[in-house]
Order: sequence, then C-alpha cells, then structure tokens
Amino acid sequence: GRVGVLYGGTSAERDVSLQSGQAVVAALQSAGVDVVAIELAEDPLAKIQAAKIDRAFIALHGQGGEDGTMQALLEFLNIPYTGSGVQASALAMDKLKSKYIFTALGISTPKFALLNEHSNWQQVLEDLGGKAFVKPAHEGSSIGMSKATSAEQLQQAYQTAAKFDAAVLAETLIEGAEYTVGVLGNQSLPAIKLETDNEFYDYDAKYISNETRYLCPCGLSTEAEQALAELTLACFNALDCQGWGRVDFMADANGQFYALEVNTVPGMTSHSLVPMAAKARGIEFSELCLQIVQQTLN
Ligand code: DAL
Ligand code: MG
Repeated sequence: GRVGVLYGGTSAERDVSLQSGQAVVAALQSAGVDVVAIELAEDPLAKIQAAKIDRAFIALHGQGGEDGTMQALLEFLNIPYTGSGVQASALAMDKLKSKYIFTALGISTPKFALLNEHSNWQQVLEDLGGKAFVKPAHEGSSIGMSKATSAEQLQQAYQTAAKFDAAVLAETLIEGAEYTVGVLGNQSLPAIKLETDNEFYDYDAKYISNETRYLCPCGLSTEAEQALAELTLACFNALDCQGWGRVDFMADANGQFYALEVNTVPGMTSHSLVPMAAKARGIEFSELCLQIVQQTLN
C-alpha cells in the first residue's frame, strides 16, 4: 500500500520535522516503497484525505503531531500509523505527567517543581539543590529551555519557558553525563553518550553545531549499559509507548541514572540519534524506516 510521510506541522519543532520528513521520504523511496510526502501546515485533515494513503509514517515533532492529536485524527480516518498511540503520545509529550508516572513506578527522575509567576524563586532553587533546568512541559529539542543557578536566573528562565507553554517545570540539574537510548520494536538500541562544549545539549548542539560529540559505544561498562537498556524499556513501557522512540537520561557522578523523558517521534535528521544508534546495530537508515513502517502492518 501507499505510505504517506506526515511532516512539517505547525509546532516550534517544524524545522526539525522538515528535515526528518525529507530524510524518511528519500529513504523509503530508495527502498522501493510507494511513498507520498505530505508537508502539513494548517489544514492537515484535507491534505491527508486528498493523498489517499494506506498508512502514515508520522515524522512530526512537538505539539499537533507528536502529542496524540494527529494520532487521534488518523484513528478516526482508519489509517494505521507509526509509533505510539493517542494516550502514550500525549503522556510522553508532557514532561511533568511523565515524571509523575516515573516517580510512581520507582524510576529515578530529577527532582522537580512546577513553576508559576508567583513562585518563590529562592525557595524553589534551594529545594532543587541550587542548580536547575527550566523547561516548558510540552516542548522538544530543548526549545524554551535554560539553566538557572540564581533566583533571578530562575525567574528569567521561567519567563522564557512560559512563552512556549502554560506549564513550566524546573528540575534539579544533574552534574554528569547525558545519555540517550533508542527503542526499535521492543528492543533498545546501543546507548549514545552526548558531549557538548555548550552550556548543555541545547538546540544549537543538537542541530547546528559540528562540535557536538556522539559516543557510541558510549563507554559504559557492559553491566551499566545493560541496566540503562532495562531502564529505557521500563520508561517506554511505563507510558505504554509503541513501535519506536528514544529515552533521554542524565547520569550523576556516581553513575546513577535519571530518566528525563521519552520522545515518541525522535528526530530523523542527518544529525539524529536513533539513526546513529541503529547504524551501530548494523541497521542502515532505509532499513530503519522500513522496520518502523512494517510495524503498522501488525
Ligand atoms: N524532539 C526531537 C525531535 C528529538 O527528540 O529528537
Ligand atoms: Mg523531547
């Protein structure tokens, strides 16, 4: 049948999705799949119906594409789609709700606080150990995110994040290393360690800089990488995610892992992490895209 690759969209991650979508279209075409590129903007329903597709590869990031709304639209249209369902997509898009679930299941996640304009900045910062990351609850690609080590910075960081979202959280800044683990089918992919000279692994380090270092193999012991793989699947399953995704972690100086979030439509650009991890497992990009599409046939 004909596969429609849905990409673009109207979220703050539109530019990332344009790259992901174009890469997926090219890969599926080269693999001989009957594929149609569907660049979405304001009118997704009309465009999807006009394209007469049998299944959808969702390459949309962020709100309106990764958060369950597009998944619900496709449910109504009876079009099978890649990745997680409506509820899992909505939960994974919400970093705060994800943390409530992780915490309830005993999965370590950095300590956090919900902020509002009346927050006691000094108190919140103290409660979080003096250093915090501030993030919009429903964004991706580090958009709207910043670091705070003083009450003033915390308030400023809140105001920056609040431009993107009504819900803003602060979480303890874990000093250590950042790891990310892809999921394909029911299996984790090799972990990648991320190193940047930027203040953190921000939008620039993710998509623009050529200085970001991606270590795969990641340098963890076999036992530690195994523990991280199990934790990855625990996070993925905690939110009922399906098909594919990627879970992001920090490790502190003692090697304790903290789950940050699950991405249900991880980036598929040339700089992206799931393609890199799949390759380390011997799965080329076109094969990766094919395997994701094939999950919609089950
Ligand atoms: N939110 C971006 C696309 C990622 O997680 O890769
Ligand atoms: Mg994300």
